[in-house]
Amino acid sequence: METALRDKHILLGVTGSIAAYKSVLILRELIQAGARVTVVMTSSARQFITPLTFQVLSRRPVYTSLFDPSDEIRHLTLAERADLILIAPATANIIGKIANGIADDLLTTLVLAGRAPLVIAPAMDGDMWTHPVLQRNLSVLDGLGVRVVPPEEGPLASGKEGMGRLASEEKILSAVQNRLKRNEDFKGETVLMTAGPTQEPVDPVRYLTNRSSGKMGYALARAAQGRGARVLLISGPTSLPCPVGVERVQVRTAEEMRDAVLRSLPEATVLIMAAAVADYRPRRSADRKLKKGLEPVLLELEPTPDILSEVRLQRGRRFHVGFAAETEDLENRARAKLEQKGLDLIVANDVTQEGAGFDLDTNIVTLMDAYGETTALPKLSKAETAERILDAIVKLKTRPRTNDRIIR
Ligand code: CTP
Repeated sequence: METALRDKHILLGVTGSIAAYKSVLILRELIQAGARVTVVMTSSARQFITPLTFQVLSRRPVYTSLFDPSDEIRHLTLAERADLILIAPATANIIGKIANGIADDLLTTLVLAGRAPLVIAPAMDGDMWTHPVLQRNLSVLDGLGVRVVPPEEGPLASGKEGMGRLASEEKILSAVQNRLKRNEDFKGETVLMTAGPTQEPVDPVRYLTNRSSGKMGYALARAAQGRGARVLLISGPTSLPCPVGVERVQVRTAEEMRDAVLRSLPEATVLIMAAAVADYRPRRSADRKLKKGLEPVLLELEPTPDILSEVRLQRGRRFHVGFAAETEDLENRARAKLEQKGLDLIVANDVTQEGAGFDLDTNIVTLMDAYGETTALPKLSKAETAERILDAIVKLKTRPRTNDRIIR
């Protein structure tokens, strides 16, 4: 059977959790799928299971220590050779270390030295899982492009019920397969992305803006970069850090965003407009702070340039993606925007739904394409939503522009 795992070098990190025995089953599945697996154990993992078990099943040496005089640069060669690093189970401790760049044993050193994609499957007690420090560390990892396979709910080793059980082998394997499949499929593409809100000044201290946090756009930028694209990110004001390897230009107003898009457009093979661009701006922005009075104030607004509509005619073979944040009649409105703006794909979300929209780490979107197809995605992390959007772009880009295309 052909799988994304065939002949791939997987580094399987096992850490000290009661779920460490399940790593044996994961190892077996990886090997059955054709992968070459090298196991690295932390010292606490060895309290739960012996290296011999992994050695017999993987038919390779199992590595446990950074300080083995027989091969001093082993961590570098192991890290360089890996196509993917999987840590399952991953304890709260190792998550904290990776999120903070601590490399005090072989496994954490490999993670820091390696550039292969990292997938982690956490397992821990429910109270640890919900602890704000752990959740903060997970969002740091998410921001670095680490794929987290969330734990499941059920009985825990402590005797309590809750979140924290290691995800099923099936889920872990499919996360690994997906991560490998998606590796490098954007190589050669230059993705021009916009993200975040815009701010339209009223006076030197006030502005009009919207609730966009930029999280969805940044997740897309990170995912496209991870899949081999050159990513040019034009960002409205947000507090999000620029993803590693992404070229960012920061802008404030719709006008500045439009100018930055036009400047970079000739280089782009894909344009993704995830920004929530203000539709109106004050006709005049005061030079000095407006003073308070007792009379009502009328603010005259004028439309901003519609960036996607403006670049429609310069599209050529470039792939254009838009977003539609709606509060009612989602599909009809999104499809109308797809047509008006001449898009290849539109990502629509109903921002009134729980788990979708502003400043959350999850989203619920529907993808509508220029061939009339509609795919509703379930509630997913913004990182996974980003991957699914990129999957759809890859699929559509290779489809010939035949007569069944509705948008021309
Ligand atoms: N967009 C744009 N330029 C604007 C406004 C929006 O390029 N001035 C892009 C957005 O980045 C998004 C898509 O157009 O990809 C749809 O944005 P949205 O705000 O949902 O739609 P509008 O066309 O502004 O319509 P409305 O606000 O009335 O829903």
